[in-house]
Amino acid sequence: MLHLSSPAEAKEWCASQRRQNQTIGFVPTMGALHRGHLSLLNRARQENTTCCVSIFINPLQFEDGQDFDAYPRNLDTDLSLLADNGCDMVFEGTLEQFFPEIDPKDSIPLIPAGHFGKGLEEEFRPGHLDGVRTIVDRLFKVVGESKAYFGEKDFQQTLVVSDLARAIGYPEVIVCPTVREVSGLALSSRNSLLKAEQASEVTQIYQALLAAKKFWQQGERDPETLRCAMNDILEASTLVIEYAAIRDPENWSASPPYGHLTQAQALIAARMGSVRLIDNMRLDNETP
Ligand code: PAF
Repeated sequence: MLHLSSPAEAKEWCASQRRQNQTIGFVPTMGALHRGHLSLLNRARQENTTCCVSIFINPLQFEDGQDFDAYPRNLDTDLSLLADNGCDMVFEGTLEQFFPEIDPKDSIPLIPAGHFGKGLEEEFRPGHLDGVRTIVDRLFKVVGESKAYFGEKDFQQTLVVSDLARAIGYPEVIVCPTVREVSGLALSSRNSLLKAEQASEVTQIYQALLAAKKFWQQGERDPETLRCAMNDILEASTLVIEYAAIRDPENWSASPPYGHLTQAQALIAARMGSVRLIDNMRLDNETP
């Protein structure tokens, strides 16, 4: 596996792969890799002739420096996991290398997340999805024409990056299913920050999503009733709820839809101590 330490070198490598008629699968990450990332890499390998991964903890998407400092970092383990799982190239970079045209004394202008950044995450992490769109725009421009793989756990992020890819004309964004622990907890790099005694309590997020799904399967179509089903479970736990919300996944809106729904996504963000967890579930499909 090739390990490159700058976006410029990565750009050159990707261009040379394309010249050799290789198709590129790309998995953007912030490191602290887990089985969720590896499932994205595996899919990228299956669907392309070569694949690459970026590891960059993007300061632009952290509203608070403490959260940035606490973000788990495991570069050596990440590199061996990637090598063992068939990654062809991994690249890193510094903020200055990603934005060479910006004087390091100046702040980097953020690209607004756009319509899909409105509501939910915007309310509780203002600027976060702007920071995501800004770095993913750069990452897409480094890798170029490719297929880029994102996990559905970050549902609103998948909408924002898909919108970005439509705007710039590439890559093809592939959204892959959330990988879960046996308990239902969605895999996330931040899970490693949970204390042992918190691990069972955070599974209430999954239980709340399942409750909404069960109501849907029983014929419930009112967004407020579905929201209350999630809230009841979360309120009985020690989680601090940021949002438990229903949205129409095909017609994103900052505020909840009303009336009889024909499709629905249930979304939750909650805190367990200092750890923020998000998860979501499509209600109108067959998956458990
Ligand atoms: O989902 C992530 O890990 C990050 O938000 C991403 C897409 C790598 C951008 O920094």
